[in-house]
Amino acid sequence: LHKKKLFVANWKMNMTTQESLAWCVTHKNELQKSSSQIVICPSFTALARAGEIFKDTGIAVGAQSCCEHEKGPFTGQIAAQDLAEIGCSYVIAGHSEERALGVTNEIVARKMVTILKAGMTPIVCIGEPQTIYDAKTTTNFLTKQLAPLLAVTDQGAALCIAYEPLWAIGSGIMPSLETLKTIFALLHKKAPKATLLYGGSVNKENIASLQSIPYINGFLVGGASLNFDEFNLIIS
Ligand code: 13P
Repeated sequence: LHKKKLFVANWKMNMTTQESLAWCVTHKNELQKSSSQIVICPSFTALARAGEIFKDTGIAVGAQSCCEHEKGPFTGQIAAQDLAEIGCSYVIAGHSEERALGVTNEIVARKMVTILKAGMTPIVCIGEPQTIYDAKTTTNFLTKQLAPLLAVTDQGAALCIAYEPLWAIGSGIMPSLETLKTIFALLHKKAPKATLLYGGSVNKENIASLQSIPYINGFLVGGASLNFDEFNLIIS
């Protein structure tokens, strides 16, 4: 799906709209120099203007979530089509912080379908909690998370799948490179047409070793994407 490496900045709810837009304006020129595909995911309220700022730069804008339904009586929800109309080309679906609020594998799969239908690329997140990792049942857990996604795509075609172990998010700790090699080989086998990303405590120190892992085509970066200097070291 992606020839270039993908670097997705997931800002979560860490910056205000004003702060996000100031970041985009200030760093647009420097970001454009990257030979990778950069995707900036600010909060919903910053998306439309971020889309304008990055118009014709090659830098993409993504949303952090969307509704699984196309339209209708869903007060407070945001439709994928609306995100496409304001210039988003990516949408994150099923981030663990969203799943923690009750979003199931089946809902994530429906979000994915809605995002694809609106002409955007879904970045679907999977990943196991600490208890599953400790019990060494990660493979089984990920297989279950993937099942409804793979049931409605051709081997994950047109999808980005981000593996983010929950215990590695914002913790500064990561699976070993050996573990990641095994997991990404498995993900590639199950979804050979998907673009595979890793997320969880990616920073300027560990990016080089992560880049060496087969089948990782990009990264979902949280905390380290807020500071431009650090993010710039990660993407270059
Ligand atoms: P951190 O990079 O802050 O660990 O966050 C990872 C993440 O959740 C990205 O979606």
